[in-house]
Amino acid sequence: MQKDYSTKVRDKTAEIEFTVNGAKLKRKIPCSMLLLDLIRDELSLTGTKPGCNEGECGACTVLVNGFAVNSCLYPAVNIHGKKLTTIEGMLNGTKLDPVQEALIKYGAVQCGFCTSGMVMSIKSFQNICNNNKITPSRDEIKKSIEGNLCRCTGYVSIIEAIESLFTNI
Ligand code: FES
Ligand code: FES
Repeated sequence: MQKDYSTKVRDKTAEIEFTVNGAKLKRKIPCSMLLLDLIRDELSLTGTKPGCNEGECGACTVLVNGFAVNSCLYPAVNIHGKKLTTIEGMLNGTKLDPVQEALIKYGAVQCGFCTSGMVMSIKSFQNICNNNKITPSRDEIKKSIEGNLCRCTGYVSIIEAIESLFTNI
């Protein structure tokens, strides 16, 4: 549903320039707009899911400059000059990202509501580990997804999928 930001911060707008999934964009947006609403309502990228809207469930997770943020808490104006990646940007041509392939291989997707946010959190964790040349322990893997709630899978298959990214099984 489109939000009426004009009643929150009257007439305050900002021009922002940013990259979304590789494409450069410019937008004039209300200063009070949240990134989740920019993504879904302005950019029509509805793969990013609204869940709790208070930073608890992780369904809204996207990457900013390669690292996970909860878009339901992130002011959209802060994306100015940055690189935003949503689940739609994880495709490489027609190829799924290895994170998505691993979740499928390990049967770690059921209803799918958490999945786009889960993929982005895992990708962020993979980026951190790769940047620091770390092979994470199982406990570190569990911790990496503590901000993403999944009501269906019981997490074991998700954890195994993440482990496979670091062990090439
Ligand atoms: S919708 Fe953002 S953390 Fe739940
Ligand atoms: S697969 Fe249903 S909430 Fe995670």
